[in-house]
Amino acid sequence: MTDSYVQAVNSGFTKTLAKKLGLPRPAVLRRYRAGDPLTVGPVLVLGGTPGVRDDADRVAEALLGWDLDVRQTPDDTTRWGAVVVVLSGIERPEDASAPVMALSATLRRLAPNGRVVTISRAPAGTDSPELAAAREGVDGFLRSVAKELRYGATGNGVQVTDDAPVDSPSVLATLRFFLSARSAFVDGQLLRVGASDADPAVDVDLPLAGKVAVVTGAARGIGAQVARTLARDGAKVVVVDVPGAGEALAAVANEIRGTALQLDVTADDAGARILEHARARHGGLDVLVHNAGILRDKLLANMSPDKWDAVIAVNLAAQLRITEYLLGANGFSSEPRIVSLASTSGIAGNRGQANYAFSKAGVIGHTRAFARLLAAPGGPGGTANAVAPGFIETDMTASIPFVQREVARRVASLQQGGQPVDVAEAIAFLASPAAAGVNGQVLRVCGQNVVGR
Ligand SMILES: NC(=O)c1ccc[n+]([C@@H]2O[C@H](COP(=O)([O-])OP(=O)(O)OC[C@H]3O[C@@H](n4cnc5c(N)ncnc54)[C@H](O)[C@@H]3O)[C@@H](O)[C@H]2O)c1
Repeated sequence: MTDSYVQAVNSGFTKTLAKKLGLPRPAVLRRYRAGDPLTVGPVLVLGGTPGVRDDADRVAEALLGWDLDVRQTPDDTTRWGAVVVVLSGIERPEDASAPVMALSATLRRLAPNGRVVTISRAPAGTDSPELAAAREGVDGFLRSVAKELRYGATGNGVQVTDDAPVDSPSVLATLRFFLSARSAFVDGQLLRVGASDADPAVDVDLPLAGKVAVVTGAARGIGAQVARTLARDGAKVVVVDVPGAGEALAAVANEIRGTALQLDVTADDAGARILEHARARHGGLDVLVHNAGILRDKLLANMSPDKWDAVIAVNLAAQLRITEYLLGANGFSSEPRIVSLASTSGIAGNRGQANYAFSKAGVIGHTRAFARLLAAPGGPGGTANAVAPGFIETDMTASIPFVQREVARRVASLQQGGQPVDVAEAIAFLASPAAAGVNGQVLRVCGQNVVGR
């Protein structure tokens, strides 16, 4: 599925016309390609205090290890590929002024598809009203800056919990994701990252080597792309979909040298069949991606019980039952990595989607609860996270009436819909060993859609 408007306003005569008419001109987003540089230009790290070795220096040193051109002093000539603002040391609202003004002075020199990333401390970690105010301030600040960026540039933030140093592996992995083209459609988001024992030595190009992943609803759309992306990252992938989609499912499995399991995720024995297949064909199971989902949109006044029940059964109850089975049966071979598909509709609500929004908000609920369960003392470890896509170009969204679809695409900071690969990259990041410190989080992949609360 493509958004032909994005192509049109970026080429030839229609580009000139759109300019003259003052129409929105969404940028062509830079997406990951093997061998491309991590950023589109040098990286400026702000927020340091001269003469003192502080968090900004620690971050800059880590970035140097990735072969980036890293600077800590702004100048008037460089076109920045990224600006990282380290705000972890602020203790009072007034402390933000200097680093924020330093960022202000560089924004006009940010390259197209550039990145702004804040690194700050998570507000939840403090009882001090002043400290909490300073930390929470970063949230509103970052989301606003992201709305001001143009030409495919994005702004995102890492919120580090008090127990983790800013250069711990999961913080750096999250920073790397936000800096890279893998996060092309993630905009205006803050991700909380805690301490972890993630192994920093994992191969950044094949982070899932030796892992077995299961992806439900993988015959087409986002699920098929998740399967391709996890396979690209080194995983052996089991693709699951209903028997009616068997042919397309087999094609995906062949393409990625994985295996296909025809299964309705609402079946009582779905968890058992997934485990049996993963063990028999690949010797275990490490990553579970709950992607299968359906829409049965109706205003609540016109809702029928079958439309309500079907959406809850596929989108929510099946995820719960399968995860509970796999955890209860000790089905994971290593620390479980569970990623579930939520939706911005589950965060903000959406007219005509009461059933769908219930199911997707429910996904966020169980994700947070499973995350606590996994992390509890004596628990199995691992992570449970959710990804909440906004408008993504798939068969599902192609069925939305034209005008509604066009509005949904443009009411985002990036002024366009995302591609399935954008959601897949976020899931691959959350499934990767380096993201061990990201748990119970909901990562929106929505181009900073205005839908929110
Ligand atoms: N496309 C978007 O804009 C968007 C936005 C937010 C969330 N999502 C979520 O992302 C996920 C994938 O969406 P998509 O756009 O690729 O949808 P899609 O309709 O293109 O694909 C969904 C796949 O799930 C499969 N499926 C449905 N019911 C199943 C069942 N009972 N058992 C096994 N497989 C089943 C379908 O056969 C299909 O292959 C869904 O959970 C959806 O709610 C999508």
